[in-house]
Amino acid sequence: MARSVYITRVIPDSGPALLGEGGLSVKVNPHDRGLSRSELLAAVAGRDALLTMLNDAIDEQVLDAAGPSCRIVANYAVGFNNIDLAAATRRGILVTNTPGVLTEATADLTWALILAVARRIPEADAFLRTGRWDGWGPMQFLGHDVHGATLAIVGAGRIGNAVGLRSTGFRMRLLYVDRQNNSELDRIGGKRVDLDTALREADFLSLHVPLTPETQRLIGRPQIERMKPSACIINTARGPIIDEQALVEALRSRRIAGAGLDVYESEPRLTPGLIELNNVVCIPHLGSGTEATRSRMAEMAAVNILAALQDREPPNLLNREAWNAKK
Ligand code: GLV
Ligand code: GLV
Repeated sequence: MARSVYITRVIPDSGPALLGEGGLSVKVNPHDRGLSRSELLAAVAGRDALLTMLNDAIDEQVLDAAGPSCRIVANYAVGFNNIDLAAATRRGILVTNTPGVLTEATADLTWALILAVARRIPEADAFLRTGRWDGWGPMQFLGHDVHGATLAIVGAGRIGNAVGLRSTGFRMRLLYVDRQNNSELDRIGGKRVDLDTALREADFLSLHVPLTPETQRLIGRPQIERMKPSACIINTARGPIIDEQALVEALRSRRIAGAGLDVYESEPRLTPGLIELNNVVCIPHLGSGTEATRSRMAEMAAVNILAALQDREPPNLLNREAWNAKK
């Protein structure tokens, strides 16, 4: 019998097509929504591979429901905080992600948020659509300069790096926070600083760290207190990196000027009050959301699954211990 892959959400065809060509039987969640917990537990049973989304919690219970046939969980995301990696490793299940292919799209989206917040684009667009515009006015929707401002990147990995590189066209001062120097950012005049300096000096503070126990609520009330009143926070990483309640309060009291958010602490739930504020631009977790990027992610996840089921090391393996143990 053909080995079986379960995909927890409809994704671009390029991925399932590769899996089918590889002789695998592919089953896909037929609904235009995420599966409930009980649906997920039932759907994964007896599968050889799972292709999962960033909002599927893949924990011990799900891995046990999949059972001993399961060789790989291929996450359709670069972030993998939704997967209990240690639990997968204990069961000899390989885990992979989709790094690299979504770097540029996510960096583009980060800039869309920086510009949208600084120049109040959604607010001005909404105003125009009310039909109440009576012509150009010298004091209408005045925003903040992006060019020449200080951009501070927190986490200078692949995505933080790509966001930083884009700042040269805006002639910005570039700061970054990371455990190590980033030679590409250093080459364009970027300066590695500690988080405190970044908080104090940033006009735009953009978050690009993965969500881990150390980065959870990295930006809370004490951190926001150190920022300039004219500063904006941009988050295209993971919601729980910011204390969302503290952010809402700071935005409401104009303790900081604005925020551009793609991710939230308890998606899809939003902290009450957030969307009533006009100094925040909020979009529904779209970082990698271009047609080309989502297709490449689908292919990458499929290539990882095919490798695992053909006893080859998947290119984007996250838990080498699981691979070594089965060899
Ligand atoms: C998106 O948030 C991802 O991790 O790919
Ligand atoms: C603005 O439209 C200007 O011409 O200054």
